[in-house]
Amino acid sequence: METLCLPAGKESLQKAAELFRAGQVVAFPTETVYGLGADALNEEAVRAIFAAKERPADNPLIVHVARRNQLEGLCRVTDTAEQLMDAFWPGPLTLLLMKTSRVPDVTTAGLPSVAVRCPSHPVAHELLEVCGLPIAAPSANRSGRPSPTTARDVYEDMAGRIPLILDGGSCDVGVESTVLDLTGDVPCVLRPGAITAEDVASIVGQCTVASSVMRPLKEGESAPSPGMKHRHYAPKAKMTVFIGTDEAVAAAIIARYDQAENAAILAHDSALPLFGGRRAFSLGSTPREGAHLLFRRLREMDALDVSLIFAQGWNAEGEALAVMNRMARAAAFDLVQL
Ligand code: TXA
Ligand code: MG
Repeated sequence: METLCLPAGKESLQKAAELFRAGQVVAFPTETVYGLGADALNEEAVRAIFAAKERPADNPLIVHVARRNQLEGLCRVTDTAEQLMDAFWPGPLTLLLMKTSRVPDVTTAGLPSVAVRCPSHPVAHELLEVCGLPIAAPSANRSGRPSPTTARDVYEDMAGRIPLILDGGSCDVGVESTVLDLTGDVPCVLRPGAITAEDVASIVGQCTVASSVMRPLKEGESAPSPGMKHRHYAPKAKMTVFIGTDEAVAAAIIARYDQAENAAILAHDSALPLFGGRRAFSLGSTPREGAHLLFRRLREMDALDVSLIFAQGWNAEGEALAVMNRMARAAAFDLVQL
């Protein structure tokens, strides 16, 4: 199959909407990462997403809508959900709600809940508006690779597998949306993103964070969100993450780097000058900039065929939880607290 990559515009959006109506898969930009979309209520179309991504069938998809009233008949919207939608939609917050039988089991991997999200990216919004369908869309990477934040990243993973990629430039947030479980008594963050647990608590009074967000699952433990049990965000290189002051991190990284072959460093802007002529790349100067750059850098490291990555992290709290959750997984939890 030939894969077209077109700049997002009136005509290409129409073409994408037609493909959606015909049960096909199209990649499109959102404010978080690129998504791989298809009609969420069409079983065959949803199966085609799993096939293109090589995604395990037990990992459910997020259903994207342009407006809240598109959720009617798909899930039970609670008062808490309404309040959070008022505060954060459109935006990078995915809500888990109890589904109706109209949502096929393939979309939710047989779970009784469905994940729903209303993206704020103008291209995603316009596309969802034009096609008028609820669109199931995981991140547009092949399973196990870092999520794509540019159309070129998507092309790298999806060329020959899907008919169309809409190019809307690079994604603002850079890591996937917050996944918030609203099916229990207290809202619980299953995957941290740009909307933090503190943001949620400021609207609805309380919010917890699943303990598995910053540690690997134990032998036999079941994942609160199926996505967490699969290998994730993995670069080809082996990665270690160091947390501490710039000076302590630089000393620890330099000691290892100078013993290693074919290594690269990802560090905060304030620490970069400490690495001399070594191969060091910027992760920005704040957790937010780190989130924006992380997946791009991991793909660059893959392209350079680096064997070892030494990366500088942040303390895993508040705004930094999202980027640290991804860094920890990319490093298979090889974290060094200095
Ligand atoms: O920012 C995002 O959320 C992007 C863009 C494209 O919207 N999408 C995305 O989808 O990251 P995906 O499929 O890569 O990640 C969805 C996560 C997975 O970890 C999945 O297990 C979890 O959400 N999830 C989806 N439905 C669920 C459900 N019913 N119960 C528990 N977890 C669910
Ligand atoms: Mg994904």
